[in-house]
Amino acid sequence: MLVRKALVASIFSIAAAVAFAHGDVVPQVVDVSTLKPLGDDMLENNPYTGDKEAIRVGSSAYNQNCARCHGLDVISGGISPDLRKMNAECDSFAGKKAKDQCKGEMDTYFRNSVLGGKVRGDRVYMPAFAGTLSQEAIWAIKAYVETRPAQ
Ligand code: HEC
Repeated sequence: MLVRKALVASIFSIAAAVAFAHGDVVPQVVDVSTLKPLGDDMLENNPYTGDKEAIRVGSSAYNQNCARCHGLDVISGGISPDLRKMNAECDSFAGKKAKDQCKGEMDTYFRNSVLGGKVRGDRVYMPAFAGTLSQEAIWAIKAYVETRPAQ
């Protein structure tokens, strides 16, 4: 148990060092004024998939808020899950219907992961972004992540 704790602590000091190197430690509010507004109700599916402007905004928002743990250009160094794998998993399903259903479920899972963060017991593996990132920002980040090939 102690060993695991120490391991997690050292992983996070590495993450902190990486973050320091890139100078992006504090969660950044994202300017979404150029995107189609989505209203107050949280959507289940990404409305911005393939939208050029959303991908541009999402790329910058990703680099400011996520890259320090999930890797520059969404290439994880192993500290945190490689988010490109979420897309790749759906592409491995046979048939359009199953692929689409998988992507829909991934959208919702992605959104909930970002809003709520990843916390177990007293360990914060990933901070909650509810209150920092609007749903426009979250879906823009997802639209950007979707453009990153798994290999
Ligand atoms: C402080 C580091 C950190 C930051 C910053 C961070 N994450 Fe994470 N994220 C993690 C870790 C660690 C996990 C795995 C947690 C676990 O073990 O449950 C994770 C899990 C996830 C998952 C679930 C992945 C899966 O395969 O289950 C998603 C989606 C995700 N993060 C998206 C994001 C996005 C988008 C951002 C930026 C807005 C972000 N994260 C910022 C560390 C971070």
